Amino acid sequence: MKDLQFTRHRRLRNSVNMRALVRETHLHPEDFIYPIFIVEGEQKRNAVKSMPGVDQISLDYLNDEIQELVDLGIKSAMVFGVPAEKDAVGSQAYHDHGIVQKGIRQIKENFPDFVVIADTCLCQYTDHGHCGVIEDGKILNDPSLDLLARTAVSQAKAGADIIAPSNMMDGFVAAIRHGLDEGGFEDVPVMSYAVKYASAFYGPFRDAAHSSPQFGDRKTYQMDPANRLEALREAESDVEEGADFLIVKPALSYLDIMRDVKNTFNLPVVAYNVSGEYSMIKAAAQNGWVNEKEIVLEKLISMKRAGADLIVTYHAKDAARWLSDK
Ligand code: PBG
Repeated sequence: MKDLQFTRHRRLRNSVNMRALVRETHLHPEDFIYPIFIVEGEQKRNAVKSMPGVDQISLDYLNDEIQELVDLGIKSAMVFGVPAEKDAVGSQAYHDHGIVQKGIRQIKENFPDFVVIADTCLCQYTDHGHCGVIEDGKILNDPSLDLLARTAVSQAKAGADIIAPSNMMDGFVAAIRHGLDEGGFEDVPVMSYAVKYASAFYGPFRDAAHSSPQFGDRKTYQMDPANRLEALREAESDVEEGADFLIVKPALSYLDIMRDVKNTFNLPVVAYNVSGEYSMIKAAAQNGWVNEKEIVLEKLISMKRAGADLIVTYHAKDAARWLSDK
């Protein structure tokens, strides 16, 4: 074997500390954005059956929830409202005293430095469960923009630090940016769900947010999982319309897209590690089929390696705890 020429890669893997020295990617609690479902009513902590460990919580539990995140070193949450009433035009989405506006106001009063990101969509608030207004069974684009802009402004008025529109209507970033600027919120950034696929991985979320479409699907507005160039076109128009962050969603099956987006645009990229990705791991872990801690930290680091600067994840609290254990 003496004359054999080859490279000794294992030299850099020899010990725990050697591996730490050459590690290229790192996870920190401040990478995580924790999704919170705020439900109307009192003393409610409704377990979401398809997402073990995730609850819908009412306003009276919200301060404890944020305190827990702060103690874990997490700097930010994305808030979703679960309203008591729905109608055809989702009017609770842009009501100044809607459930999410109340939640945002309460968090900012008690935790002024905590970064509150508002998901801006209509599907939790419409009785048909679609992300826009409907006529003759069609989801209308332009009439929906006005309502989305109103929703964003009411969230900013309540104190939201970042507006995150997830509806996938064309022109939503332009409409929301315009609405925010007109309303005096030119300093509030837009974290656009720029690349959002029509994905079966959202199933458990729709349980949590009560936002399933009552007819049809979202394939006329969310993207076809088979497409890659289309993702770049979607992201490009959002950048031109004034987006400050670009979300790629879901995360795990779309790491190639995340890398493309990271390489093409010079904005922070956000991975949305969605509900189905969470629940699959939870279910396997509860059966003892995988090591939850190791598998979660591995998948989160893979998102950062693929180019994500931030990760929206239901695993945030566990991951932050595991990171501080080390
Ligand atoms: C609302 C919205 C959805 C998610 C985030 N915002 C659901 C959807 O588009 O159907 C999914 C999040 C998840 O699955 O964790 N439009």
